[in-house]
Amino acid sequence: MKKLKWLLLVIAFSPFSFLFANEGMWLPLLLESMNEKEMKSMGMKISAKDIYNINNGSLKDAIVSFGGFCTGEVISEKGLILTNHHCGYSAIQSHSTVEHNFLETGFWAMNHGQELPNAGLFATFIVRMEDVSNAALKGVTENMDEKTRQSVIDKNLAQIRAAAKKNDWEDVMIRPFYEGNKYYLFITETYRDVRLVGAPPSSIGKFGADTDNWMWPRHTGDFSVFRIYADKNNRPAEYSASNVPLKPKKSLSISLDGVEEGDFTMVFGFPGRTYQYLPASAVKQQAEVLNPVKINIRDQALKQIDGFMRNDPKIKIQYASKFASTANYWKKWIGESQGLERTGGIERKLAYEKEFQKRVDANPAFKQKYGNVLPELNKLYAEMEPFALVRDNFTEVTRNTELFTVVGLMNTLHRTYNNNGIAGYTTEKEKILNRLKGFYADYNEKVDEAVFGVLMDTYFKNVPAQFIGDEALATWNKQDESGEKLADYIYSKTRLTDESKIKTLLEMPADNAIEQLSQDEALQFANSLIAKYSETITGKLNELQSSINNLQRIYMQAQLDVFKDKRFYPDANSTLRLTYGKANSYEPRDAVKYELYTDLDGLMAKYIPGDYEFDVPARLIELHEAKDYGVYGKNGKMPVCFIGSNHTTGGNSGSPALDAYGNLVGLNFDRVWEGTMSDYSYDASICRNIMVDARFILFVIDKLGGAGHLVKEMNLVHPKKNQPKAKTAK
Ligand code: ARG
Ligand code: ASP
Repeated sequence: MKKLKWLLLVIAFSPFSFLFANEGMWLPLLLESMNEKEMKSMGMKISAKDIYNINNGSLKDAIVSFGGFCTGEVISEKGLILTNHHCGYSAIQSHSTVEHNFLETGFWAMNHGQELPNAGLFATFIVRMEDVSNAALKGVTENMDEKTRQSVIDKNLAQIRAAAKKNDWEDVMIRPFYEGNKYYLFITETYRDVRLVGAPPSSIGKFGADTDNWMWPRHTGDFSVFRIYADKNNRPAEYSASNVPLKPKKSLSISLDGVEEGDFTMVFGFPGRTYQYLPASAVKQQAEVLNPVKINIRDQALKQIDGFMRNDPKIKIQYASKFASTANYWKKWIGESQGLERTGGIERKLAYEKEFQKRVDANPAFKQKYGNVLPELNKLYAEMEPFALVRDNFTEVTRNTELFTVVGLMNTLHRTYNNNGIAGYTTEKEKILNRLKGFYADYNEKVDEAVFGVLMDTYFKNVPAQFIGDEALATWNKQDESGEKLADYIYSKTRLTDESKIKTLLEMPADNAIEQLSQDEALQFANSLIAKYSETITGKLNELQSSINNLQRIYMQAQLDVFKDKRFYPDANSTLRLTYGKANSYEPRDAVKYELYTDLDGLMAKYIPGDYEFDVPARLIELHEAKDYGVYGKNGKMPVCFIGSNHTTGGNSGSPALDAYGNLVGLNFDRVWEGTMSDYSYDASICRNIMVDARFILFVIDKLGGAGHLVKEMNLVHPKKNQPKAKTAK
């Protein structure tokens, strides 16, 4: 026993075991060869073929990319899909008015006729995927320069695409994997008539808001329900009143049994982007140099906005969504940098690199090919640092000051005028005026001025003068190098912060308007910053990034060659992946243990009447007091959220959490704060994904929403009671 423990410790901390158990976002196509055995040993009761099979309906046929930014899954034979509340947020918002504020009250369609169409929203299924690496890399040689290499590949891809076997209504997509060492083709099917069916009130769907975001223990019912519509032949079609609910190839059964500590779980979805194969130096740079800059800028912007939101109910509504999105990554980066530091993520990478280099140096062929790849990568990242710093200052300042959004639109208008004359200008102007209407509805000049002021202080302090335009510098000096004075000067002169002033200006004849615009103080100042940035930073960064990409590709291939005995998974790239682990509690710090489950008692304990983050609907209080949980509760408790050791990232929101049989047990929506560094370096001890329990979702739909008819569409099962089918809605 002692010996075993020792052995386990050696394996866990040895640099050879680059991969933690549970780490990895795997390709569905390769599960059978790469993962099935391990998955079964961890408790999986189905086969890889049940997950991915191109001949018969398999679990993959129930998974959709939801609008390209989240994941959704089919949960009824009538095309009902489930995703997160925060994924459906803008759809829910777009149907909300002051009289019918669905964000506040929730929304439940009581029949198909009440389901609400959403222009632009789509759901994409993966029909099949295929390794096309050989064809994609045909004619590529090792000493080709990057440009030539890419043009050879582009030609190959065009041919592959043209030759791909597919039906008329399907699409082809080809993506690079393993930093460009492999290429996979996807045949996809995109449905464009996706209607809103239901959403809980935000007080459930967003319960805990920013305070609880990225945190455990969590009590958020972060889900919403949509339905995919198809034409009469069950094919994708644009919205039409005559479309009918999709008959899916596969819909997920929903478990009423939940999970227990140690149960096998999988998360199936579309993770966006990860950086697992960066050298330690790059991760260190991210954690210690770049993240702090971005965090600091957002910190200042958020403080300003928060001050206004607290004192003005109108501003609070106007800025709620913007505040949440800025706060989201602000908080994530803080957790990420701290997590890397606390878990020794960088040291672990360094130990791995040492072993890598040792093996390379010991093998003449490797040494010749890969001997310098790490030192060269390190050199390039170091060389990039000053430019990356300016980039992050620039992108964060321009992202967080709303004035820059208007500047961007005016520049587009100016460009269109130059390139396409009056006709082009007029069409573009209408588009822009339309966008500005939405923009100004949620804009407050005073808030923006305050943000601009503090961020300019930071920008001029952080960014060396050689990267700042002369005109902007002159204005800065004239305003005594004070952000506040600069803000006062610019915001009192510009017309860009006032909808009616811009409208008046754009009503003038085109050349007049363009002339007047070019005199605008804000535009002049901003464009001086933008122009100098493009001139001194953009090109240089692109050049360095291209060299880095080239070396990252070689480094990836080197790792595949050198650690032949290891399994490598490709970085996330918004393609369909399966990740698996266990329902698993954890210890975030010494002497602190986080339990697996939260429940409704815990949610009610957080309740603060009237609070923007912690209020709850009256009906929930009633149900809680009566313990009226129907078939969804367990032993007098109503489970709410649980955690697991599944390796997920942004884009996995809305992904189904599946049990050992492939039943839906929960809906993925977040990660724990201590583990947000999993995008760079996964650590099984503290990386956890957060899921809302399927039973809580059903409880909210049925008991709180009164939409039991939706639950009747679903297939509810009791896998733990060995009752494969138990239709027990209500
Ligand atoms: N942190 C989660 C994710 O990255 C949830 C974000 C939505 N919630 C919020 N309070 N911003 O998407
Ligand atoms: N909340 C994220 C999302 O929206 C998921 C995550 O980053 O864990 O995709």
